[in-house]
Amino acid sequence: MSEPQSSLLTALDLVPFGQNGQEGRFFALRLTHPGWARWRPGQFVMLRPVSFGLELPWARPFGICHMTSRYLICFFQVAGRGTRRMAELRPGDKVRVWGPLGNGFAIEPDTPTLLLAGGMGIVPFVGYVHTHPKPWNVSMLFGHREPLNCYPLDSINERITVDSLRENTPGDLDNFIFGMQERMQDVAEQGGLVLACGPQPFLRMVQQLSLDLGVRTQLSLENRMACGVGACLGCVSRVTDKWPVQEKRGGLVQVCNHGPVFWADQIEL
Ligand SMILES: Cc1cc2nc3c(=O)[nH]c(=O)nc-3n(C[C@H](O)[C@H](O)[C@H](O)COP(=O)(O)OP(=O)(O)OC[C@H]3O[C@@H](n4cnc5c(N)ncnc54)[C@H](O)[C@@H]3O)c2cc1C
Ligand code: FES
Repeated sequence: MSEPQSSLLTALDLVPFGQNGQEGRFFALRLTHPGWARWRPGQFVMLRPVSFGLELPWARPFGICHMTSRYLICFFQVAGRGTRRMAELRPGDKVRVWGPLGNGFAIEPDTPTLLLAGGMGIVPFVGYVHTHPKPWNVSMLFGHREPLNCYPLDSINERITVDSLRENTPGDLDNFIFGMQERMQDVAEQGGLVLACGPQPFLRMVQQLSLDLGVRTQLSLENRMACGVGACLGCVSRVTDKWPVQEKRGGLVQVCNHGPVFWADQIEL
């Protein structure tokens, strides 16, 4: 894995996603290549446009959506002041990027692998399906609240089978949970792997199912972060007694540099 480094990149373009009232909320940001030798899907970057100026001193964390030999793509939803400012980026604007940070998801080419994505949790799976050497062993279940065209789904659909379910009513959520349970049961019977990314309540459901079914599962956490490199203790979560480092068991670890991806039985949500 590459050592994290700081690079001043140039915005190549900012492509809006979504329509019918979602305009201005979802964007793919393409940046010049940061020069990393390697990265893993599930790793993230701390990103700070120069235009944040003195007003917004902290960088913001974003999953690596995808990287090619020529550029890095992040995909974001406008949530607050920083992402609103990012939505104003123009080609040629400079962006400071620290990365690649964190650990990333397991890739086991011959293992049946189920990706569970909730909303923006789909982002790291774009890179995952593009770098997986045997994508025919990978499938995805995607639960979302906004219209499908708000998300970077097309490039995933090209490579693997995706089932998606939009949550409009509480009944839809029940169907989604039922669908997850069925899929995870199948994966458990095949000795497979489940990888999940999404909001905290969604991860809690996946964690509970994985413990009940005994299926190997990794969860990607999105705790709030300030430094991204283990220095500020702003992002800690508690680990369980299954954590591999004996002295840390039951204690707090920084999600930014011990995660953001954790085995489901090793982390408390
Ligand atoms: C490892 C990691 C990967 C992430 N990947 C992505 C991604 O690929 N795409 C994307 O759109 N977002 C991602 N996020 C979330 C993203 O970092 C926040 O949405 C962003 O920092 C908000 O910045 P802001 O200045 O616009 O919002 P702020 O003004 O700081 O906050 C606005 C609102 O957003 C909430 N918020 C801020 N940070 C987070 C967070 N980490 N988790 C949940 N709620 C938060 C605040 O509670 C507040 O309600 C990721 C977070 C982490 C930790
Ligand atoms: S964000 Fe500072 S320690 Fe994790």
